[in-house]
Amino acid sequence: MSFIRTPKPWHLSENIITPEWAYWNRRKFIKTLVGAGIGASAVSLSACQRPNAMAPELRQTLGNPLDNVIPNPDFQDAGRAVTEQQYASTYNNFYEFGGTKNIWPNAQKLPTDPWTVEVGGRVKNPKKYDLDDLTQRFPLEERIYRFRCVEAWAMVVPWIGFPMKALMDDVEPTSDAKFVSFTSFYDSEITPGPAWGFAMNLPWPYVEGLRIEEMANELAFFAVGIYGRTLPKQHGAPIRMVVPWKYGFKGGKSIVKIDFLTEQPATYWNTLAPSEYKFEANVEPEVPHPRWSQATEKIVGSNSNPFDWERQPTIIYNGYGEYVADLYA
Ligand code: MTE
Repeated sequence: MSFIRTPKPWHLSENIITPEWAYWNRRKFIKTLVGAGIGASAVSLSACQRPNAMAPELRQTLGNPLDNVIPNPDFQDAGRAVTEQQYASTYNNFYEFGGTKNIWPNAQKLPTDPWTVEVGGRVKNPKKYDLDDLTQRFPLEERIYRFRCVEAWAMVVPWIGFPMKALMDDVEPTSDAKFVSFTSFYDSEITPGPAWGFAMNLPWPYVEGLRIEEMANELAFFAVGIYGRTLPKQHGAPIRMVVPWKYGFKGGKSIVKIDFLTEQPATYWNTLAPSEYKFEANVEPEVPHPRWSQATEKIVGSNSNPFDWERQPTIIYNGYGEYVADLYA
């Protein structure tokens, strides 16, 4: 991990100058701590929220505190303030539990203990990981990433987890593995989907996919936590994908199965509406969704009125071009 940083694309925009100067001074302070090797204690600071702003019902959905998490110094500055958790954890997409943003109470039905993630296909060492493996087998780090939904809203989220590459090194894909599929939990009794869904014959389970080079990219991450604790169910407990240069739908939640494949897998939204949701789905401001522009994005929680959330320009690859642009050259 280097301590010399090239300017990020979001530093070049004047729109980023916000009244959160105090917040950013705190972030600089955290970086200094990290540089001095005292990183682990900084997590609680970076994840700190205003607890009183959170309703008690919501607080009950939060996971357990995660220890031994090192803030990754390369991913502490996302160019915007971290979204307050009372917004991030109540404004979700998880269609298994309904078709609105307000699924967080319903998602509490998800059974997450015990849990197994089965990894197979074109690998030398097929594996089954249990709940303890997910938080103990791979060193956990915190990464503050920008998050951009295809619906043109955006957040900044402090994830905790491990690079996808760590899991790849554990299972060792064979040379013919070209794609990877990630399957979410599905049980028609527990996760029936939105009421209107049965009329559309929705292609459950939710499956997402990456090219193997995308999965090996430094940014590709498995999150097992958020805001200093294990993932709340509404965010895809106990493990979900995070690929911050792509639209949020590429980040499958509550993963139970990972398959290394020779061919591109069929994926959920791409199967439903291929002209609207591409397999690649990189954040590209110049490429409009067929029904709306992607040139700007709404900042979730930028004030207390969702109808008046501030808009800011979208950045190519969500600002992560230095890591991923060469994958698409
Ligand atoms: N994963 C599953 N299994 N089901 C879903 O409906 N929605 C996706 C993605 N992962 C979804 C999913 C979409 S559209 C988005 S924007 C993000 O989850 C939202 O993540 P968040 O609710 O944690 O912010």
